[in-house]
Parts: sequence; structure tokens; C-alpha cells
Amino acid sequence: MVVGGVRVWRDGYIPAMLEQLDQLEKDGIASLDAAGDASAVEAWRIEFLGSKGRLKGVMGGLKDVPREQKPAVGKRSNEVKRALESAFDAKKGSLGGGGVQVAVGIDPTEPGIAQPLGRRHIISRVRDEICDVFGKMGFEVASERELEDDKHNFVKLNIPAGHPAREPIDNFFVEEGGESARPRMLRTQTSTVQIRVMEDAIAKGWGPPLKIVAPGRVYRPDTVDATHSFMFHQIEGLYIDRQVSFVDLKTTLFAFARSYFGEDAEIRLRPSFFPFTEPSAEFDMKIRLRAGKPAEWVELGGCGMVDPAVLEAVGLDPEEWMGFAFGFGIERIAMGKYSIPDIRMLFDNDVRFLQQI
Ligand code: DAH
Repeated sequence: MVVGGVRVWRDGYIPAMLEQLDQLEKDGIASLDAAGDASAVEAWRIEFLGSKGRLKGVMGGLKDVPREQKPAVGKRSNEVKRALESAFDAKKGSLGGGGVQVAVGIDPTEPGIAQPLGRRHIISRVRDEICDVFGKMGFEVASERELEDDKHNFVKLNIPAGHPAREPIDNFFVEEGGESARPRMLRTQTSTVQIRVMEDAIAKGWGPPLKIVAPGRVYRPDTVDATHSFMFHQIEGLYIDRQVSFVDLKTTLFAFARSYFGEDAEIRLRPSFFPFTEPSAEFDMKIRLRAGKPAEWVELGGCGMVDPAVLEAVGLDPEEWMGFAFGFGIERIAMGKYSIPDIRMLFDNDVRFLQQI
């Protein structure tokens, strides 16, 4: 019988097999030592440890060994196998490449093929950055539903029935429920969160005092153009305490603008009107929307002192509590920060644009 290229006789296989194993171990270690590079080491692996290799060949003789001698021969076979395998592992490690199996025809030192990396959308990043700035001023972040009822979008915000803002043509009403169900709608403003947060805090005994910002999507059936979209983002702010003044509001907003846009940010408040604040103001910033064009005043949002009717609507005593509120367009802030001239660029999802910012 021929095993692993060596003749084995029926009598005396033990010496023959043990000798072969000794020889195999010696040859293996010596030729592995001589292997100088990864491909020589791989060739060695195939020759000695491969499925048709020399170790397999010698071990094939085990089946012909008489039963009583099998344990001794089997034990030695395993020793040699382990010795060759661990020598191979050590050699691979010493050649570098961290033990990576090297397949013929692959050069692991070649540079890889770069995969394009995605990134978070500008709106998401700006939203989180704004929340961070207000977070440093002690505001917590709240979030609420986009599908609202008219009580939270209008009634409790002091926008009574018959108010022009409630016209069906200016709102996305959702038809559902029976006759008695309250009309539901996609919220037109994040001011709804003011009401929800106050109601929730009172019900659960958390507050007031309350100090929150609430970013989120809002919806209005506007015709899309460079400054309008039927869906956009706002961030609402609400601070309720026993002593809150208009100066606190102004200080907070100016601190935000200077922190986010830089110390030289030019900002102004203009008297205005909103049903849920009294007095009310609009908050403008001087922004350069196009490179090379002069900066212009852009309205970022509205603000004011919370109207006593709003406090009463959630069950707070306006003699005891007061506060300020504000609501900004996140797109406007992003456009100002990055000089983006058209709101549609934020929703077109053209990666060439998104990758720039
Ligand atoms: N909700 C208003 C809007 O969408 C913005 C606003 C104005 C929010 C004044 C406020 C505020 O909290 O006090 O136009």
C-alpha cells in the first residue's frame, strides 16, 4: 500500500507511520521556515495541510493500523497536525497582514474602492444644532403629533371660530370619524405643542415652571416657490414661570442668534400681532442669501408674551403664571446660515447640493 508517497508494509506499520509523521513534521517546519512571502506560505499550506496534502496522505494510513496500536499512532498524528497548524499561524502572523488568508490573485495592499458616504440632511443637522443652543440656555426638547385637532391648532391658541386662519383653503383637514368627531388636520404650526406640553405637565404635576423648545414639521397648502413649501419645519419655544419679562424674551433670542450665527449677527424685533401672544413681535435677521448680493432683512419667525387667554385655556391662572413664546422657521435659519437662495433646494434631494453643506 502506498500512503503519502511512502510505501507502508502490513507488518510494522507503527514504526513506518510514526517515522513518516516525524519526517513530515521535520520537513514541514523546515520548509515553512524557508517560505519568504505570503504566496510561498500559502503554497506550503496547500502542500502540507491542504485537503489533498501530505498530512492527509499520511493520516490516511491510520485506518490500516491494528486496533490496539491505533491510540498511540492517533495521538502522534494529532500532535503533528497541531504543530504544523500552529507553526503556520505563527508564520502568517509574522508576515504581517494580521492573519488574513491570502487568496491567490488578490493584493491586499491595493487601495480599496471608496463607497460614497451618506450624511444627515441639512434640516436635521440645523434642527439639532438649534436645540443644542437652546439646551445650553436650559430649554428641554419636546415633540408632539403632526395630526392634530382644531382645539390644539386653533381654539386653545386663542384663534376662535371664524378666524381667517381657519379657512379650509388654508389648511389640510383630514376627513375621518363620525359627525361628532372633532375635525382633524395636519398642524399648521408647532404652537400646538405649547398647549400639549402645558396640559401634559399640569396633568402629570411636572410644572410649570416650563422651559421647552419643540422642533417639527408643519403643513400649509401654499403654492411652492423660492420661499414657500407645503411642508416645512418650525421650532417652537415656550417659557412659563412666575416672573418672565419681554426683556427675558429679547435676551434669549439675541443670545441664540449670536451663538448660532456669530457675534456680529444683526437682528431686530418688529411689533406684530399673533392671537396667542400679547405683545407680539417678529424677529428678523440680516442675511446674505446669495453670494455677492448685499445682506437683507429676513423674517425668521414670531414671538411674544403668552396671551392670558392661552394660559386660561389650559387651566393656568394668569395672575400667577406668565411666559414668553416664539416660533421660527428652521428652513429660514438653514438658508441664512448657509446662504441658500431657494427653499426648494432643501427638498429636491440633489446629492450634489446636499454634499456641499
Ligand atoms: N405660530 C406662528 C406661525 O406659524 C409663529 C409664532 C409666532 C409662534 C409667535 C410663537 C409666537 O410661539 O409667540 O406663524
